[in-house]
Amino acid sequence: MKILIVGANGTIGRLVTAELSKRHEVIKAGRTSGDVTVDITSPESIKAMFEKVGPFDALVSTAGNAHFGLLKDMTAEDFKKGLHDKLLGQVTLVLEGQKRINPKGSFTLSSGTLSSDPIVYGANISSVNAAVDGFVIGAAIELENNVRINVINPGVVEDSPQIHPYFQGHIPVKMDKVVAAYVKSVEGVLTGQIMTVVS
Ligand SMILES: NC(=O)c1ccc[n+]([C@@H]2O[C@H](COP(=O)([O-])OP(=O)(O)OC[C@H]3O[C@@H](n4cnc5c(N)ncnc54)[C@H](OP(=O)(O)O)[C@@H]3O)[C@@H](O)[C@H]2O)c1
Repeated sequence: MKILIVGANGTIGRLVTAELSKRHEVIKAGRTSGDVTVDITSPESIKAMFEKVGPFDALVSTAGNAHFGLLKDMTAEDFKKGLHDKLLGQVTLVLEGQKRINPKGSFTLSSGTLSSDPIVYGANISSVNAAVDGFVIGAAIELENNVRINVINPGVVEDSPQIHPYFQGHIPVKMDKVVAAYVKSVEGVLTGQIMTVVS
């Protein structure tokens, strides 16, 4: 398969890229690195990426930022960060990507455990993760040509120790479990699934 990975140089993306590269042609994309650069907050940049890459069989997104901060200090502008980046960025990858993806292809997006298991500072991320999950459920029943879509919803991962102190009582998820979920989405047959990965 020809697989486009957006966020291929990130903590999760790097390992997903290494695994899928063993069996597939992988095109790496990122904001500042990769075979092709893209800013998912810009629809024009996303269109330009698809123009360069051409038809593909699978798109994996391991990108997306949101606002991390206390609710009492949060402004609507802060909240828009998650909306425009992690939510609309990934949604636009699918909206534009559906015009380019080959029949029986797949989209795999990323959300996260805060959709249902909140932490302090996480209200924007919880909102956005739940919305990404909802988008996948809604989009799965409309994608044409047997194109599939799933979202990986992991707990905080082992390889992000800098954020572990904010996740009191959460057991960091082993990276091989996280990578396996992306592989299941890309190489398997499931669609419309929120694939939770917790310890
Ligand atoms: N880490 C965790 O514990 C955890 C847990 C649950 C869910 N998640 C979610 O999983 C996803 C990946 O997390 P991560 O920890 O691997 O992130 P990360 O290490 O920060 O890596 C993010 C990657 O995305 C790319 N990127 C960032 N902003 C972008 C933009 N505007 N346009 C295009 N590419 C962009 C970066 O590209 P460059 O390197 O080229 O700049 C980088 O390769 C995120 O959505 C995160 O919320 C993470």
